[in-house]
Amino acid sequence: MNEKKHLLCIVGTRPEGIKMAPVIKALKQASWARVTVLATAQHRDLLDQVLSLFDIRPDMDLNIMKDNQSLSELTSRLLTRLDEAFAELRPDIVLAQGDTTTVMTAALAAFYRRIPFGHVEAGLRTHDMANPFPEEMNRLVAGHLARWHFVPTQRSRANLLREGIDERAIHVTGNTVIDALLEIAEKEWPLDVPLDDARRLVLVTAHRRENFGAPLREICKAILRLVDHHEDIEVLYPVHPNPNVRAVVAELLSGHSRIHLVDPLEYAPFVEAQKRAHLILTDSGGVQEEAPALGKPVLVMRVETERPEAVEEGVVRLVGTDEDEIFTQASRLLSDAQAHAAMARGVSPYGDGHAASRIADILERDLAGADGVVVGSV
Ligand code: UD1
Ligand code: UDP
Repeated sequence: MNEKKHLLCIVGTRPEGIKMAPVIKALKQASWARVTVLATAQHRDLLDQVLSLFDIRPDMDLNIMKDNQSLSELTSRLLTRLDEAFAELRPDIVLAQGDTTTVMTAALAAFYRRIPFGHVEAGLRTHDMANPFPEEMNRLVAGHLARWHFVPTQRSRANLLREGIDERAIHVTGNTVIDALLEIAEKEWPLDVPLDDARRLVLVTAHRRENFGAPLREICKAILRLVDHHEDIEVLYPVHPNPNVRAVVAELLSGHSRIHLVDPLEYAPFVEAQKRAHLILTDSGGVQEEAPALGKPVLVMRVETERPEAVEEGVVRLVGTDEDEIFTQASRLLSDAQAHAAMARGVSPYGDGHAASRIADILERDLAGADGVVVGSV
């Protein structure tokens, strides 16, 4: 083998930190690779929490986040700063995960500098540009610029094949979130929230841009109704720091003794909260992947999902953002033990915990030798 290949791993937000951590760890153990980590810090505090948990110290930090950042200013700042970073670091390949603005701009900046790009968690699609917004566009752009597509499932592989992506560039690895989850979930972590063990826990998260405004208000009203109708539940809601989320949640849900509004939980306590939950209501992507693996029923408060596998397994249900529908579906699971048990089966359609080592093996195979194996259109 020739000299080590320089792999630049990019992380911007909390979920990217969680899902790239196993990849960074696997690549750091590879003798053929020199790994550097660049944090865009599209998220500041949420990303730092995760990097510290997984003991990742970025080699470069762009410190991009601004309060209530708009998509256009975030995109333009990221593109400029990533281009400068690539010029300075001169990586052989760039790797990024998912569908955030960080990932889309990393793929584009790499393309402009003709640096091959590897996309982790490739091939997720709703085929609806408005849902999720802007993530569906981000993944289309990143997907069409990637030389390596590390897809979680056969379904995501099929999505890419339909778009004309070279099948030799698509690798079904599973989702690295399950690698991270299994590592964390095997231990018990302190959950610093005064929960009442006698009550059933309903865990809630919501942060999607397309849910800002009226849909988020509907979600909050449904939660209030649930708490009023079911005396034996309490709600734990770690509230995303986005001001568009905070303001509405504080206005509608503050002051209820059985609704715990808390700051975002660090990843390990959040996994613990998922383990303790009876039911999870969310619009998160990652939680849709993790909760089924932990055997927890999930109601997804969105109109579309790019993760249909768990829905087809019957362990996740798409309920939209209408107050009545969320209330009715959640009430059923809180009242009907059989309906709940049918969704609490512990299946993991998104991975087996070995995705990151597969990614490292594929990259080693393709980058070994003088020329490396070059497939795909870019
Ligand atoms: C971003 C991603 C979304 C992903 C989510 C994960 C885009 C367009 N959106 O959405 O795909 O699902 O992250 O959580 O890439 N903030 C803080 N501290 C933090 C993080 C955020 O204060 O650590 C606040 C800031 O005011 C920031 C705002 O939240 O401007 C929005 O952050 P941003 O990354 O633009 O959007 P998210 O809604 O977090
Ligand atoms: N998560 C966390 N603390 C919280 C809420 C979520 O650590 O308070 C984790 C969750 O387990 C999952 C990830 O954050 O792994 C999902 O991030 P988010 O919902 O912000 O983004 P998405 O997955 O929707 O892009």
